[in-house]
Amino acid sequence: MKDKVTVSTLAEKKRNEEKISMLTAYDYNTACLLDEAGIDMLLVGDSLGMVILGYEDTISVTMEDMLHHTRAVARGADRALVVGDMPFMSYQADRKEALKNAGRLMKEGRANAVKLEGGTAVVETVSSIVDAGIPVMGHLGLTPQAVNTLGGFKVQGKTQREVESLLEDASRLEEAGIFALVLECVPQEAASLVTKRLSIPTIGIGAGSVTDGQVLVTQDMIGLIKKFKPSFVRQYASLSEEIQDACRKYIDDIQQHKFPSEDESFSLSPDSDWINDLKN
Ligand code: KIV
Repeated sequence: MKDKVTVSTLAEKKRNEEKISMLTAYDYNTACLLDEAGIDMLLVGDSLGMVILGYEDTISVTMEDMLHHTRAVARGADRALVVGDMPFMSYQADRKEALKNAGRLMKEGRANAVKLEGGTAVVETVSSIVDAGIPVMGHLGLTPQAVNTLGGFKVQGKTQREVESLLEDASRLEEAGIFALVLECVPQEAASLVTKRLSIPTIGIGAGSVTDGQVLVTQDMIGLIKKFKPSFVRQYASLSEEIQDACRKYIDDIQQHKFPSEDESFSLSPDSDWINDLKN
């Protein structure tokens, strides 16, 4: 087994200016594939609500959803550090509840760390989770759980005031003890300022190449989602086309009696004469 990636590995990567790779995973098989390919971190994102469960946003995702998928990913990750996302309202209302839910993601979900969204408003919650010995990843910029206050999935940090507040939030989260910070959909100039200011790694998604690492939703990266492709995504494969092509060939083969073949069927041994009796 290769050496497990830990929060110390990531800190060392930042010090050595070595880029960090992260992808989302929601199931065991994908986790195995990405882990074997050498990914540093697997994020069981609450994006599973949109990518896997077909919701229009992440608001309806529950702790039970997150636990179910985090457990599956953790079973497939030998090397990668597994981060379990804390879903909407699992940490915002009550600090004790937040600590309990973070603990569940570690104990029941077998995550190696948790992620939660927000700045100054969650700093004290982050502190108490970190104090309990749970590594926390922060998430600023476009925070999808706040889609209703942000007024949609829009780029954040475009004005001086917004960038100042991004820097303030990032510093306060670092002081509270986060081990890394996701920056989603912010101008690269803003991401660069945050990355230079923090001594912990920043992980960008739609934040340019200036961050210490990158994260993408795997289904976007492998071209599995036909409906929508965010402009910051690079597709490294076109799996939706391959899957539909395979499906059409399968249907065709069934209709033309080409599947299954003899090799793809089971037969009795040649001396099973009794089968003839049953035929009569
Ligand atoms: O839920 C998720 O997949 C995320 C990433 C987009 C960072 O939070």
